[in-house]
Amino acid sequence: MSEIIDLRSDTVTRPTPAMRAAMITAAVGDDVFGDDPTVRSLQERAAAWLGKEVALFVPSGTMANQLAVRVHCRPGDEAIVHAACHIHNFEGGAAAAISGVTLRTLTSPDGTLNPAEVAQHIHGDQDPHLSPTRLICFENTHNACGGVVVPQKNIRDVAELARSQGVALHLDGARLANAAVASGGDIAALAAPFDSVSLCFSKGLGAPVGSVLAGPKPLIDEAKRWRKRLGGGMRQAGILAAAGLHALDHHVERLADDHRRARVLATAIAETPGLTVNLDSVQTNLVFFDLAADHPLARDVGAGRLELIRRARGYGLLIAGGAHRLRAVTHLDVDDHGIAKAIAILRKITQEPT
Ligand SMILES: Cc1ncc(COP(=O)(O)O)c(C=O)c1O
Repeated sequence: MSEIIDLRSDTVTRPTPAMRAAMITAAVGDDVFGDDPTVRSLQERAAAWLGKEVALFVPSGTMANQLAVRVHCRPGDEAIVHAACHIHNFEGGAAAAISGVTLRTLTSPDGTLNPAEVAQHIHGDQDPHLSPTRLICFENTHNACGGVVVPQKNIRDVAELARSQGVALHLDGARLANAAVASGGDIAALAAPFDSVSLCFSKGLGAPVGSVLAGPKPLIDEAKRWRKRLGGGMRQAGILAAAGLHALDHHVERLADDHRRARVLATAIAETPGLTVNLDSVQTNLVFFDLAADHPLARDVGAGRLELIRRARGYGLLIAGGAHRLRAVTHLDVDDHGIAKAIAILRKITQEPT
């Protein structure tokens, strides 16, 4: 097969030659001893960028989020999250397994949390029937809600409520850089209402590995102890941190290209007979789309989606999803030509006989 266009996720990017060069030449030391200058430098840069006191370099977004759950809560506590969030759905039940924390899920189409509903579910420790609410989590951009930028007004309203009740606020900012670029805003302003923020270098920013958890020093010191307990203390990790620093220098503003290409792809999908997409939710680099109800493959829609994925793969186009959804993601390794090819393949396979 010739060229593969891989739109399954922005995690599939490979480090560019310049990023690899930065990694090879990075100054390193034993980071468990606090000796790695490149890790220290990435942590300082990330903390300043996010407007937080300190940041901790960790292997993954999952570890950053779960360290946050662990340090904000104690076993038996409750955290309020969006029902479709990554922390609840795609982190292996870690909040229960590692922290003994119950997740209270609230729904909305756009990643917002309704302050009235949140208020209704916040409980203190007076009533022994109830698990005390210690934490509220947002996700921005919100992956499963279409990569949308969560309105800051909603976040501020919930933050005000959380403060008044002594409840902490964590942001899963795996794609917060996308949210900042898309909203034309300052990333620190998006992070400001939160006690802790996770951010991934290994998604749209194009690094092979690495995330940070940022927040106040006492909280991050405790997260560091938990990182070690969970086996996430890394030694000459400057090789990886160098990729993060390179991404901060070279791969932030270019996220606008990914967003533009996602828009081009989504607009073409909207114009393709047999496919549907909610263009309003295409605000960053994720495009969730579906079979139109009148397409023959939609007669058994779950099987139809799987068949569409199979056919696309046959032409060299990889898209994510399964029986429940279809998702295409733009990133550093797809250019305008790749998007044009992806559109042509989707048009072709939706016209093929079933
Ligand atoms: C919104 C969100 N949060 C967290 C993560 C977890 O990141 P990682 O795969 O690095 O553990 C992901 C991964 O795709 C994600 O989409």
